[in-house]
Amino acid sequence: MNKPTPSESESDTNLSPQRRAWAEKNLDAEAQTLLAEDEKYFLRQSVSTPCLNAIVKADGIWIEDTAGRRYMDFHGNNVHHIGYGHPRLKRAIAEQMDALPFAPRRYTCGPAVALAAKLAEIAPGNLSKVLFTPGGSDAVEVAIKIARAATGRYKMLSFWDAFHGAGFGAAAVGGEALFRSGGVGPLMPGAEHVAPYAGYRCPYGTSTIGASADACARMIEYVLEREGDIAAFIAEPMRAVPHIPPPGFWRRVRAACDRHGTLLIFDEIPTGLGKTGKMFASQHDGVVPDLLVLGKALGGGIVPIAAVLARPELDVGAAYAFGHYTHEKNPVTARAALTTIQIIEDEELVANAGRVGASALARLHEMKSKHALIGDVRGLGLLLGIELVTSRVSKAPAKAAAEAVMYRALETGLSFKTTFGNVLTLTPPLTVTEAEMGKALDILDEAIGTVAAEKP
Ligand SMILES: Cc1ncc(COP(=O)(O)O)c(C=O)c1O
Repeated sequence: MNKPTPSESESDTNLSPQRRAWAEKNLDAEAQTLLAEDEKYFLRQSVSTPCLNAIVKADGIWIEDTAGRRYMDFHGNNVHHIGYGHPRLKRAIAEQMDALPFAPRRYTCGPAVALAAKLAEIAPGNLSKVLFTPGGSDAVEVAIKIARAATGRYKMLSFWDAFHGAGFGAAAVGGEALFRSGGVGPLMPGAEHVAPYAGYRCPYGTSTIGASADACARMIEYVLEREGDIAAFIAEPMRAVPHIPPPGFWRRVRAACDRHGTLLIFDEIPTGLGKTGKMFASQHDGVVPDLLVLGKALGGGIVPIAAVLARPELDVGAAYAFGHYTHEKNPVTARAALTTIQIIEDEELVANAGRVGASALARLHEMKSKHALIGDVRGLGLLLGIELVTSRVSKAPAKAAAEAVMYRALETGLSFKTTFGNVLTLTPPLTVTEAEMGKALDILDEAIGTVAAEKP
């Protein structure tokens, strides 16, 4: 029997009355036609089709819709670290297409080898062996396969509420019903979960991030010991909601993994390549995983490419084909990734993310002292979250207000997404300047004030 599906209005904002009202007021005829065609041809799915709007340009931190309205894109699916359409990247891709557009799988090529070497150079520890895949979900699944093969175990441990991709294996280690339910199961067997840490709204019932991380680490240690045969623990080193683990958390989990013969996989698909103010989020706690997964921004916001990085001792699949993808050594996507990393280094974007992110967080704290609607603000680098609540005492999620703030901000030129319905999540490109961040936060400040004034 199919599992019940959540009602459309519950599961998504893409059919809500607020969405409809905003669309009627703001969309021009061209966008409406495109959206209708989109809905006609694409299978509908939550948080995707029906779409919000239609865009015709993406440039730097900006996207532009069919009516010529420009929005600072503080979402960008975390692909746009170097800004959209970086001229150096476009040139490199064009040159690579002229020189060598594709490499059939039995052949290697210069760009693929150069990218592998570059990733080995910048990765923490000795993560010096790689496989490339077309997308993040695939890379997560390759990491799972390697962990299973290397340990001879099949069980995985991960966090509830996490997202690791839409494939059967990736969705199994993910912890969001949206990607696990709806009649698609059973998913990959052996996927076990623990509740994650959170300094605000902690699933373990604690009230500080330190206590929450302690409870969470204890639970991980408990499960690893009780089961005794977990192949790997997979997690994002910083939860994208966002929630930031306190110092020492990952070192403790690393030690627990080592005690129980469990590998540690870090999914750095959104956080990797500088988003949190370090090249890899795991470097904040000085922890080296056994396997590290990258994606999204690796393709420079133009092409899809993801990667699994592993310790050399985990090169255990020589007789099999764990990641036998058609575009495994595509020279164009490899060149794009290599150039993207070089741009991040040459333009010192990691340091910029740390600097602009820190002053943005300070400003968000000021906004919190001004708006009762804000229950919590948190972030690291350019992964920032503002949690809206109807009451700071009950902490009840202010989902309708969050949606209203999102539409108000869109009307004044800022695009971002909400997470869990009530967390305004800001993930701008690493190229964002202090001035642009200031303007975006002015928009947000005004939108929150306006919505708060409308709702007594
Ligand atoms: C943490 C994390 N892991 C994996 C994925 C899946 O990547 P992809 O959409 O490229 O399959 C995502 C995508 O949002 C992600 O945020």
